Amino acid sequence: MNLMEKIISLTKRRGFIYPGSEIYGGFAGTYDFGPYGVELRRNIIDMWLKAMREDDDIALLDSSIFYAPKVWEASGHTSGFTDLLVVCNGCRTKYRADHFLESIGIKADERMSETQIDEIFNANRNKIICPACGKKDFSEARAKNLLVSSNLGVLEGNEQEVYLRGETAQGIYINFKNVLDTGFYSVPFGIAQVGKVFRNEISPRQFLFRMREFEQMEMQYFTYPEKAKETYAAWKTKRMAYYYNLGVKKEKLRWKQHDNLSFYAKDAWDIQYEYPFGWGELEGLHYRGDYDLTQHQKFSGADMSVYDEAKKEHFMPHIIEASVGVERAMLMLLAEAYDEDEMNGEKRVVIRFAPAMAPIKTAVFPLLKNKPELIQKAKEVYKMVKKEIPQSMFDDNGNIGKRYRRQDEIGTITTITVDFETFDNNTVTLRDRDSAKQIRVSISRLTNTIKEIIDGRLFSTFPPEVI
Ligand code: GAP
Repeated sequence: MNLMEKIISLTKRRGFIYPGSEIYGGFAGTYDFGPYGVELRRNIIDMWLKAMREDDDIALLDSSIFYAPKVWEASGHTSGFTDLLVVCNGCRTKYRADHFLESIGIKADERMSETQIDEIFNANRNKIICPACGKKDFSEARAKNLLVSSNLGVLEGNEQEVYLRGETAQGIYINFKNVLDTGFYSVPFGIAQVGKVFRNEISPRQFLFRMREFEQMEMQYFTYPEKAKETYAAWKTKRMAYYYNLGVKKEKLRWKQHDNLSFYAKDAWDIQYEYPFGWGELEGLHYRGDYDLTQHQKFSGADMSVYDEAKKEHFMPHIIEASVGVERAMLMLLAEAYDEDEMNGEKRVVIRFAPAMAPIKTAVFPLLKNKPELIQKAKEVYKMVKKEIPQSMFDDNGNIGKRYRRQDEIGTITTITVDFETFDNNTVTLRDRDSAKQIRVSISRLTNTIKEIIDGRLFSTFPPEVI
């Protein structure tokens, strides 16, 4: 199995990620998240929000998923948010033209223009075989809008076609004045929002990388036009440093400038990560100019400008955007943390999550599961630890070796074993995930020791004996 297959299999087996609607044969582009997937998502979002709120110039927002359809007209999505689709004339299977080119060894850059892709596709159409039916007969490439549409309204004839949001950014722009009007923020400032988005991706693929329903963490920073370039550079530095601080290997991250800018962008760079299948976008950093506010002003009639006290004039703020998907971050963290090593002559899989990301920080075990006094004591210890470290669990399933393996596979940083010695001297065994080293710690110091481990390191160094 390659790394991607190993990650897919482990995350299903250990309750992180399940194929969407699996018992009905799956549903392309959707995934469901199990108990440890939910914790991991929460950690990813919490870390992002923490970083966003480091300085006090970022406000939070939670806008609805449905916006007035005019929002998407104003934003340019109804006309410009498209991918090129080709259909096999033999079996009617639909493909994304740029992905198809890859199958004949032509690397279509994510940001190649549709005209370029179309030209290359047409020049090569006699070489391209449909993987589903083997024919070499395709439709002309045509643009397919990525917005997912639905209907609102209860009575027939009273229904209105609406779009599920294709990015969270628009919710921020249409609320920009509302946040400004609270009086607590003034330009330059940012608005951050985390939420689900939906895209009619022609060919969802590569596990969490390209989904039809996913979650974005987006920040839009509003600044003076003359400060925009400087602010853009500062955000680029900040966001790359963020990933380094998470412990992501530097050689696995790189910058890539867009060759062809989206309809809204003045400049655009991606932070790419080397996923198990190759380099791909992790986060987009875009300098959007005043495009969005100007468009919403034009379409809504609302005044989106801001008064500059110093210059005594109105101006349209420029926008710097930082946008990353929760699931792409998740796939990156899983790829970074997945490891196999040997412990006492046995092969083990260990997910070396940074402590802040680990879905479970500590698991409490009774040494044996058929001794009521051990179970009772272990439950007491668990209750105590959980009060201060909520991402904890109790585990008395199977023998202790199996529990270690299970916890290593979900990336639990430490495990606590209550044994007979606990009754003699009030100590427990604390085991480190990465080194499998074990030390005895007194119960009175237990929570603090675990917290020190969580706070004090990203990837493992175990503290000295702390009885
Ligand atoms: N507001 C700007 C925007 O939406 P984007 O490059 O289309 O820009 C931003 O998306 C981020 O959302 C990407 O960098 C990626 O992390 C994530 N993303 C985009 N499409 C995705 C998909 N189909 N599945 C999973 N994540 C996706």
